[in-house]
Amino acid sequence: MNHFSYRNGRLHAEDVGLSDVAASVGTPFYCYSAATLERHYRVFAGALPEGSLVAFSVKANGNLAVLRTLGNLGAGADVVSGGELKKALAAGIPGGKIVFSGVGKTTAEMTAALAAGIYQFNLESEAELLALDAAARSLGQRAPIAFRINPDVDARTHAKISTGHAETKFGIPWSRVREAYGLAATLKNVEIVGVDVHIGSQITSLEPFEEAFQRLADFVGVLRRDGHAIARIDLGGGLGVPYHIDNTPPPDPAVYGAMAAKLTKGLNARLILEPGRFIAANAGVLVARVIYVKKGERKQFLILDAGMNDLVRPALYDAHHDIVPVEEAGPHALRARYDVVGPICETSDIFAADRDMARLKDGDLVAILTAGAYGAVMSSAYNARPPAPEILVKGAQWAVVRPRMDDDALLATDRIPNWLAV
Ligand code: LLP
Repeated sequence: MNHFSYRNGRLHAEDVGLSDVAASVGTPFYCYSAATLERHYRVFAGALPEGSLVAFSVKANGNLAVLRTLGNLGAGADVVSGGELKKALAAGIPGGKIVFSGVGKTTAEMTAALAAGIYQFNLESEAELLALDAAARSLGQRAPIAFRINPDVDARTHAKISTGHAETKFGIPWSRVREAYGLAATLKNVEIVGVDVHIGSQITSLEPFEEAFQRLADFVGVLRRDGHAIARIDLGGGLGVPYHIDNTPPPDPAVYGAMAAKLTKGLNARLILEPGRFIAANAGVLVARVIYVKKGERKQFLILDAGMNDLVRPALYDAHHDIVPVEEAGPHALRARYDVVGPICETSDIFAADRDMARLKDGDLVAILTAGAYGAVMSSAYNARPPAPEILVKGAQWAVVRPRMDDDALLATDRIPNWLAV
């Protein structure tokens, strides 16, 4: 359920017409709906046992306005870099609701997180444990830790976003977990507080979760018998969303939440969840203009003014995004088959291949749907194209929450060394 819909034949984000925003800020742009973010957060949090921590995964959408919107509802943050930590704090999310994940936290990042008094470090190796212990010692602190356990399950999602099987770089291998906790227990500047797992992203069936959560829950007993105080269970992120809006039944967060609750019931531990995509994906669209409709030898191309630098998911993961016209096509509109592409000089600069759509013409606006997660955050300035700006809508209000960088600002990021001076 999201708050993008046609009103009087024009696509709106809540009460704001996307063509009005386009007329004001130009194209392309990302547009997020606050009501949708809020709804997704509430549905997700409401499906979990009372007192659980929902730490929004900042990597999915790190815009300060988005983080503030979620933080105001009580969300915490899951961060994976010093930059994301700063963003979460700047958005007003307290350190006490921040968990720090990621396979290679540097000492500088750990030190910043300790200074912020974060809730938990999710460690992924013995080396990280030793580095954190040293960083905490130099600050005279004890760092709260969990180990991310690699449960060796197949997440049955795209290979590039699957993380829970033994061949990936993620987590502590199952066979060394007890040893790792044993080592942690000997260190003075860390405090064992929990366990953590994250098996991958865009997971659309509950079985892989169930398998991983069950293994983790069983292991809590083992660790407790070893004498460790496991008070928190972090189940990671990964609940998928429907990218084909019309025909994919969404995974039901209520069923997911009930399953997580059931498997961890009786363990008397606080649950932590790190959803990103579930909260943000369908809360955002990328609006672009058709620059040209081009006839190739065998295909017709819609050349948009957005490119893979703005939204890389189709190029990187062959990801599907629905694409709809901003001016609603009537039921009798003529249809055509297009490759929807960007202007970038790569064949991979494509948003959709052979897509059957209502016929469009030069200058028309389209919205690429389900772009609120892993969209703007993964954008780049490839081909010296400033990434698309971001807009947040709330009811009838809207604001530019990341302005478009102009070409001169982009140029100003480079420096010419003295030896090249003329
Ligand atoms: N926690 C950890 C430790 C993670 O690595 C991730 C995602 C999440 C939580 C959030 O997962 P989510 O709920 O959003 O599925 N760029 C890719 C997705 C990469 C996900 C990486 N980790 C994409 O566009 O599909």
